[in-house]
Amino acid sequence: MQFTFSDYRESAGALAAELGAFRPEVALILGSGLGFLGDEVEDPIAVPYERIPHFRASTAPGHRGRLVFGTLRGRRVAVMQGRLHHYEGYSVEEIAYPVRVLRLLGCETLIVTNAAGCVNTGWQAGDLMLISDHIKLFLDSPLRGGNLPEFGVRFPDASKLYTSELRDLAKAEAARLGLGLREGVYMFFPGPQYETPAEIRAARALGADAVGMSTAPEALAAGHCGMRVLGMTLLSNMAAGILDQPLSEAEVLEAGERARGVFSRLVLACLEKL
Ligand code: HPA
Repeated sequence: MQFTFSDYRESAGALAAELGAFRPEVALILGSGLGFLGDEVEDPIAVPYERIPHFRASTAPGHRGRLVFGTLRGRRVAVMQGRLHHYEGYSVEEIAYPVRVLRLLGCETLIVTNAAGCVNTGWQAGDLMLISDHIKLFLDSPLRGGNLPEFGVRFPDASKLYTSELRDLAKAEAARLGLGLREGVYMFFPGPQYETPAEIRAARALGADAVGMSTAPEALAAGHCGMRVLGMTLLSNMAAGILDQPLSEAEVLEAGERARGVFSRLVLACLEKL
């Protein structure tokens, strides 16, 4: 199915009715481990996805499925606690849907975080990575289908999806806080199985530093409708075949738990200085 512009408007209108005069300026999509930041929003207005027309339910573990509006570090934010993934059965268009709704509500910037496998053998599990660019070969574009010109052009430029001034900001904030921050290319894989060792070797040959199952759809939709995008990754595990040990969700969740202090400090520092 394809959403129409009036679907997006209907969702935004339903949210606006709950928000009174409040309008968000920054959207945050928080991946595994960082969802708790939604609980730190001041004067929160939380709206479960099931109350928003056309929104889908979030089924992934650790993804709560609600939008939290309010103030965080002095910014008016909309925090998605729980994102949608292709492996849950959703179309790319459905995954990107909330981004466009938040754009209609006024968000001009998207901060998106995720956990990913580390492909770069010079780096380590637990490192944080700024996303400089992505590779998405395996999935439709969220922009497939009739273009909605209210959001953007038919053939958008994707050469500067991850906004360079926000990357500079993140690097400066990481340096100020004394945190190590890698910078590299995130490659999208559809999952839900982790990749095979051969796929990881292919990803490396193609120029990927990290592999994960999210983020590219949301970033593409955000770029199309003119939002600035800052993407940050927790390299939760070495990708398949690098170490002689199986990959597991428990390892990813544990890494998220361990890194949540540093990762959230960096995200909040960037938010404050946007
Ligand atoms: N591959 C894909 N997605 C992931 C991984 C991985 O190794 N780790 C966390 N998310």
